[in-house]
Amino acid sequence: MSGVTLRSINKTFGATSVLSDVSLDVGEVEFLTLLGPSGCGKSTLLRIVAGLETHDSGEVSIGGRPVDHLRPRERDVAMVFQSYALYPHMTVAQNIAVPLTMRRLRPWQRLPLVGAVVRSVRERRAEIDADVRRAADALEIEPLLDRKPSQLSGGQRQRVALARAMVRQPRAFLMDEPLSNLDAALRVQARAEIADLHRRLRTTFVYVTHDQSEAMTMSDRIAVMMGGRLLQVASPGTIYDSPADLRVAVFIGSPRINTLDGIAREGGMVEAGGIAFPLNSGLLAGASLTVAFRAEHADIAPASDANGEGLPGEIRQVENLGADVFVHVACRGSAQPVIVRVTPDGGYGLARGQPVRVRPILARILLFAPDGRRIEARP
Ligand SMILES: Nc1ncnc2c1ncn2[C@@H]1O[C@H](COP(=O)(O)OP(=O)(O)OP(=O)(O)O)[C@@H](O)[C@H]1O
Ligand SMILES: [Mg+2]
Repeated sequence: MSGVTLRSINKTFGATSVLSDVSLDVGEVEFLTLLGPSGCGKSTLLRIVAGLETHDSGEVSIGGRPVDHLRPRERDVAMVFQSYALYPHMTVAQNIAVPLTMRRLRPWQRLPLVGAVVRSVRERRAEIDADVRRAADALEIEPLLDRKPSQLSGGQRQRVALARAMVRQPRAFLMDEPLSNLDAALRVQARAEIADLHRRLRTTFVYVTHDQSEAMTMSDRIAVMMGGRLLQVASPGTIYDSPADLRVAVFIGSPRINTLDGIAREGGMVEAGGIAFPLNSGLLAGASLTVAFRAEHADIAPASDANGEGLPGEIRQVENLGADVFVHVACRGSAQPVIVRVTPDGGYGLARGQPVRVRPILARILLFAPDGRRIEARP
């Protein structure tokens, strides 16, 4: 059985298409992240799953059951927003209890006096209290239960929102940038907490972010989205090492992947940056393509290297980050400097203005067609 299934979802706002033919299968116990730049349609897609937004065509299923005709509260999903949407006049305990009181108590049973007099209501309230305590305990916010949201830090509010999502044991958790209001240190901690929560609850998580380090560290799989389309859905490792599209390769990874304009040549060669690489692109000689490699997949050799291997260039900047040194080299065929990661020892003696050669590892070079599609180099 699958957690969340999307089939050919399309959505337009007025004349603008926001989602085009989005199909996706999220496993029952999978942590899937929708990752993409601002405005690419992530929130809209998540809201369609939650039933907060309608789609023009396509199908949404949750737990193997079509939910297109169901209202949000009938879909058995919990949504956590960036803003947390806590009720300011209620205590933490009351906030966490909201989904349970809505579900288990009729409107008249929620009146304060009734609870005190009617026994069945008193019992049901005690159950709700116990569930709230369990969720608070899991997220270590028990000492905060009597406070109001205004008396909490950003990280604590975020945990209250998670606890509220957790109490009703939903079929799937839908999270829209829940960490974006936290400062950098807290984000790293909260990221680990959410990943841990997923491991304990063993249920479907669909998580939206435009932060690639969040996506890389938390997810089983990442769905990279741009312009309302899914470009690639794969594990973080595959997305990084084997991007299916140039836009994915460029979006993922810091520093940005190096790209050079190249041309396919006779005899299984590709020319870029003034040298020829023995890479068989399978394209006709003369066809243009993009040659790409990551900063850690190249090294720097002296310009006078007898073999004369590598891309000739000139050092523009040596950026020392302590553990890593990034050397920026102006090379032919690349609009931006090519960036090479070296160790602090390897960076010793390198200086601005020095002529060098950049030697990419041949097996780690990626080729892309003019339309951005990845080309597998043939042996
Ligand atoms: N109610 C609406 N009416 C018209 N256009 C909308 C509406 N909601 C969203 N859009 C547009 O749809 C596109 C996708 O928006 P969406 O909020 O899904 O993006 P996002 O990927 O979540 O971006 P961000 O990372 O900034 O949150 C944007 O161009 C946005 O302006
Ligand atoms: Mg959004």
